[in-house]
Amino acid sequence: MSHLVAPSLLSANFLNLEKDIAMLNESEADWLHLDVMDGLFVPNISFGFSIIEQIRKATSKILDVHLMIVEPERYLERFRKAGADIISIHLEAVKNPAEALQNIRNMGAKAGIVINPGTPVSSLSGVISMADMVLLMSVNPGFGGQSFIPGTLPKIAELKQMIASHQLSVMIEVDGGIDLQNAPVLIKEGVDILVAGNTIFASPDPRHVIHQLKNI
Ligand code: DX5
Ligand code: ZN
Repeated sequence: MSHLVAPSLLSANFLNLEKDIAMLNESEADWLHLDVMDGLFVPNISFGFSIIEQIRKATSKILDVHLMIVEPERYLERFRKAGADIISIHLEAVKNPAEALQNIRNMGAKAGIVINPGTPVSSLSGVISMADMVLLMSVNPGFGGQSFIPGTLPKIAELKQMIASHQLSVMIEVDGGIDLQNAPVLIKEGVDILVAGNTIFASPDPRHVIHQLKNI
């Protein structure tokens, strides 16, 4: 499978979201990455159900919802109903990750498990078989436009090893500080999905940047 590109709308223009979504619809973007923050799990608050419902009406692309919230299990069904196709929860935020991942799958969505830069890949060993995707954070979550943490690279190799040893076909997504310089290395390491916010939306030609990220 060639890699996928998932623009993060955190860096989009929320005063004119329709225009940015129209651009994404016409672009080579595969998924729309939606960052939900509660001001508790991360020191920032972003958006919730109503915005996701509106985005759902404006695109037929896959909605990849990244929950940076405490006790995400309380809200899984509501995010699914709002239009999420993929729901990713942080290992650090959930009491019973295996059960939550199973619940996401039972709702007909794909289930992702996310780890922060400081959380070791080994902590995923008990839950990886329940996940459709692992999201490795390459910045500390909370804000767009941060620099990529290089310590993410060995984690990709370690994760690939774990997936192979369990004979699973789990997708690997990386999120935070991805740009046109580091993206080729990530693809070479075997990343399946690149999330990018600032690199795309701070550019004068976001559609072209998506094209460049897609054609590495
Ligand atoms: C960070 C979010 C990311 C962020 C990525 O907490 O999870 O998805 O929007 O933005 P950039 O690509 O600007 O680091
Ligand atoms: Zn994200």
